[in-house]
Amino acid sequence: MATTIGMLDSGVGGLTILRAIREQLPGQPVVYVADQAHVPYGVRQVDEVRGFTKEITRFLIDQGAKLIVVACNTASVAALSYLRNEFPETPFVGMEPAVKPAAEQTKTGVVGVLATYATFQTDVYNSVVERFAKNVNVIQNHCPGLVNQIEKGDLTGFETRRILESALRPMLSQGIDTVVLGCTHYPFVIPMIQEIVGPAVRVIDPAPAIAKQTQRLLTEHSWLADGRISSEIRLITTGNTQTIENNLPMYLGYRLPVESIQWQDGKL
Ligand code: DGL
Repeated sequence: MATTIGMLDSGVGGLTILRAIREQLPGQPVVYVADQAHVPYGVRQVDEVRGFTKEITRFLIDQGAKLIVVACNTASVAALSYLRNEFPETPFVGMEPAVKPAAEQTKTGVVGVLATYATFQTDVYNSVVERFAKNVNVIQNHCPGLVNQIEKGDLTGFETRRILESALRPMLSQGIDTVVLGCTHYPFVIPMIQEIVGPAVRVIDPAPAIAKQTQRLLTEHSWLADGRISSEIRLITTGNTQTIENNLPMYLGYRLPVESIQWQDGKL
């Protein structure tokens, strides 16, 4: 039996990471929890996000997951070191906005970062900027409402475009040549982002790097599945199964059944 990867996000955002993991590691079984009962995480307090992610991690381990991918920037910056302490036996892959590579590669010295409000408040994010982007002008925008638009499956509509334009136009007028996607929901709207910023601006999607890091950790633990036979993906939501099921072809390019679990007194 190949080793199962557990993945979590507030909703469908982590599916952008799942796509990349699937491409690189098709033989690895995955169990994914979308905490849609609590989406968006980006407007919540750190302690709340820690509580949710701790319980989801426990649930994923119960389902047989050996390695956990926190496929959510907000949860990673709020809770990753806490989760590592709570589950010392379990290796975690987490995310932080790719400010470092952006700062290293920018020619204009101006970089835009799109992430959630909560991510921008954390010490983890601010210390990344402090350490790696001292001499770069980092312009931030938390794209209010964008996560909800993507959860609804609206990747191309008027309101989604309005949110992105109002985030990106001011960045463009200040000379950005790079956009960092610091929220796992946002790669779903890369085509629209690229259309607004034009081909000269580079948009950094963190998903391939996270899939590589997952592969590295699996190899280190001798957990890498051999062969290229696709193994099972289990998708589980704490919210409504119908909405996510209907929109899956748009997110993943194929259909899957979605399982349901409910929160009860803080437990799954
Ligand atoms: N997908 C998440 C992230 O990467 C969280 C979005 C949200 O729930 O606010 O930050």
